Amino acid sequence: MNLLVLNGPNLNMLGIREPDIYGRTTYADLVAYIEAVCAREGIAVKCYQSNHEGALVDAIQDAYQKMDGIVINPGAYTHTSVAILDALKAVALPAVEVHLSNIYEREEFRHHSYPGLACVKTIYGHGIKGYEEAVLYLKDYVERKA
Ligand code: DQA
Repeated sequence: MNLLVLNGPNLNMLGIREPDIYGRTTYADLVAYIEAVCAREGIAVKCYQSNHEGALVDAIQDAYQKMDGIVINPGAYTHTSVAILDALKAVALPAVEVHLSNIYEREEFRHHSYPGLACVKTIYGHGIKGYEEAVLYLKDYVERKA
């Protein structure tokens, strides 16, 4: 199984940005954690982070016919990006949305997700463990469809 893990704007600042909300784990630590989970599960993973909406759209399009699934934390684009929603719909790969924080207990503008409309599941409020849950969910989802 080939998996793409996408992180959107400001997630490269993990460990520095608002640690009371997002924790002290750095982005490099997060990537190492995801890679270890995927190695254990026999999954080939590519992790990519960008602060740019179009770059995230390009990465989703690149996954077409190469990847079996996508884990995505779109960061603030969660609440604005029809382009990321459309890209996920275009490639029609199973996608799981992850949020480190509980977006439903925060400001009202964080309660709505556009990319989430094209995802088979959303995991929120579990910190970096949410990425592991997403990987395991997608693995099971892809194996059940095979
Ligand atoms: C986030 C939640 C978003 O509202 C925020 O803009 C982020 C991170 C999360 O992981 O909790 O950048 O996606």
